[in-house]
Order: sequence, then C-alpha cells, then structure tokens
Amino acid sequence: FHVDWDLMTAEKGGYDHFMLKEIHEQPKAYRDTMRGRISEDGRSVVLPELKVTPEHLRGINRVHIVACGTAMHAGMVGKTVIESLARLPVETDVASEYRYRSPIITPETLVIVVSQSGETADTLAALREAKRCGARVLAITNVVGSSVAREADDVIITLAGPEIAVASTKAYTSQLIAFYLFGLYLAQTRGTKSEADIAHVLAAMDSLPEQVEKILAQAETVKGIAEAISKHSNLFFIGRGIDYAVALEGSLKLKEISYIHSEAYAAGELKHGTLALIEEGVPVIALLTQEDLYEKTLSNIKEVKARGADVLGIVNEGHEAEVAKSVDTHFAIPRTLPLLTPALSVVPLQLLSYYASLALGHDVDKPRNLAKSVTVE
Ligand code: G6P
Repeated sequence: FHVDWDLMTAEKGGYDHFMLKEIHEQPKAYRDTMRGRISEDGRSVVLPELKVTPEHLRGINRVHIVACGTAMHAGMVGKTVIESLARLPVETDVASEYRYRSPIITPETLVIVVSQSGETADTLAALREAKRCGARVLAITNVVGSSVAREADDVIITLAGPEIAVASTKAYTSQLIAFYLFGLYLAQTRGTKSEADIAHVLAAMDSLPEQVEKILAQAETVKGIAEAISKHSNLFFIGRGIDYAVALEGSLKLKEISYIHSEAYAAGELKHGTLALIEEGVPVIALLTQEDLYEKTLSNIKEVKARGADVLGIVNEGHEAEVAKSVDTHFAIPRTLPLLTPALSVVPLQLLSYYASLALGHDVDKPRNLAKSVTVE
C-alpha cells in the first residue's frame, strides 16, 4: 500500500514529471499573474498591492535588479523591459556579488529582488543591504509570507502556483510577466509611454497564454531535436539583446538537468574567442526573434556554419523560409512584440532540456547536487 507513490502520481496530474507538468501549467500561470492587474478597458496596469507612491516612483533615478540563478535571468529580461519602457538605467547583479562590490545605493534607487522561493539566503542578504542603504525594495516572489516577501517594502506575487521541480520553468515565466506589468506601471506613472502604447503591449500580453499553448502542442517536435542533442557533450546558445538573456536561461536549464555542458554567448561576441570551440557537428542553438538584430545574428550564424556547426534556429513565425537557408533545423514561435518574445522563446528551450534529460535517463525533477531553495550563503 504505497500512499506516497499514489500521492506523488496524483500531484503530477498525469504527467511523468513535475517539470513537464509545470511547463504545461505556464498558460495558466501567465493568466493568473496578469489577472486583476490590468484595468477593465485594457489600457493600464493596476497594482493595488504596491504601497510605494507614484511620487516616489517618479523620483527614482536608477534601478538595481538582484537575484540568483533562473530568477537572475528573468531579471536580465527585466532590465531591458524597464529600460525600454520607463527609460531608467537598470543594473543587474547576482545576489552573491551585490553586497561585496559596494554598489551605489541611494534613497533614489529602487532595488528589485526576484526570488521564486523568497528564501534564498544571498537574495535576502542583498535585500537587507539595500534597505540599510536607504533604498526601497520591491520583491517579485512566488511565495506569500516568505522571508523576502515579509522584509521587502513592496511585493508583487507571481501566481505560478507551487513549483516542485528543481529546474524552474513556470516561476521564471511568471517573473517575466511581473516585469512586463511593473515596467508598464512605471512607464504610465513616469509618463514615458502613451496610454495607446501601453494598451498595445497589454493586448499582446493577453495573447501570450494561447501562444504558449501552440508551442506546447509541438512538444513532440522538440523531443526529436532533444534526442539528437543528447548525444553531444558540448553545445552553444547564441542570441543578441533580449535573446541573449533567454540564451543564458536555455543554457542553464540544459546544464541543470541533462548535465550536458553548454555556454550561452552574445552572438556578436563569439568571434572573440569561443569560435575556436566550434567544430564539425557542434550543436548551436540560435535565437533570432529580434527583427532589428536579425541580419546581424544571421551573419553570426554563418560564422558558426562555416566551421561545421549544426544550427537550430528559434525564429518568429513567418521567417522560417528565409532562416531555413541558413540553419539546419528551425523552430518557429508565434508572433508577438519584440519585448515579449522571451515569454515564448524560452518554452521550446525548457522542453528541449526536459527531453534531453529524459533521453539520458537522469532524474529530471531532482538533478544531482542542486537544491530547489538555497538557504546558505
Ligand atoms: C536554486 C535553484 C534555482 C533557482 C535559484 C534561485 O539554485 O536550484 O533553480 O533559480 O536557487 O532561487 P529563488 O527561489 O531565489 O528564485
């Protein structure tokens, strides 16, 4: 009579692993995180949970985003989001470094800490340091009542629901949604975007859950690619701009659960050293979702192709035919605004790491040496 086994099976809701279940829960997590935070007419963001005043937000002159691991990668997307929507300078730091570099923190600094669990020791220590220096701290966390949520001045809860798998998926994408909402809120408060612009982004966000569902329906395609990739011991992820932030997350996911070594590189930086490691058959996963950087990234793809790399391109729908000429395989994501692509492009990368780990027979939900929440510094 194995109660535990039955319970675990029930909790996985018919999926083989928590990670796969959580990947599939993303459309719901997006909807839940957006619900109640967009005005009924769809033209503005409402964040009633924030205690910070509009005056305070108008007075800040810089933003620091501090986090660890996957949450840091969400923060890197958050930097681009806030800089482009609210025109504020944003720095990102991994929490374990932040305190030790004497960051310039003033009362005009807004420090945003991102943590799924809200219990990561380094993130909590960074939060305390920021408060000690007089900055206001906003936490983006998935756990109500966590240490980070309790100690921050303001909290935006991501409504991803409990995340059990060590490799973070739906918590990361919900953090992206939280950054989009907060970036728009900052923009409307500081007057850096018009109401029409904000409504335009919100309308595109509204389509994201359905677009993720479309990607999930192609899981079998990704599985085939993952099985081929699982035979390699080294690969690269490349991208420019916001695609580079997603490349970092895709690479981390793969390392965490498949133990295949990979590196994420800003596509234009490859030729400054790493190109030496590209040889016949090395898989390169290239993200090409940013129209303005498209030609540049394509020329970087040619650099690796010329050295024998086997390139998988993650592209926007409508670009497949053009990209097909330069890559070996491609996977298309539905069209959205350039700023929102990470919420879609990361999904095939999550599936890729899941199926690669599965093909290699690893414990997907509990990778070796890693913990879901790290409460030591
Ligand atoms: C651990 C987990 C990672 C996670 C990081 C930060 O290392 O294995 O998946 O991204 O902690 O966790 P947090 O709960 O602060 O987001």
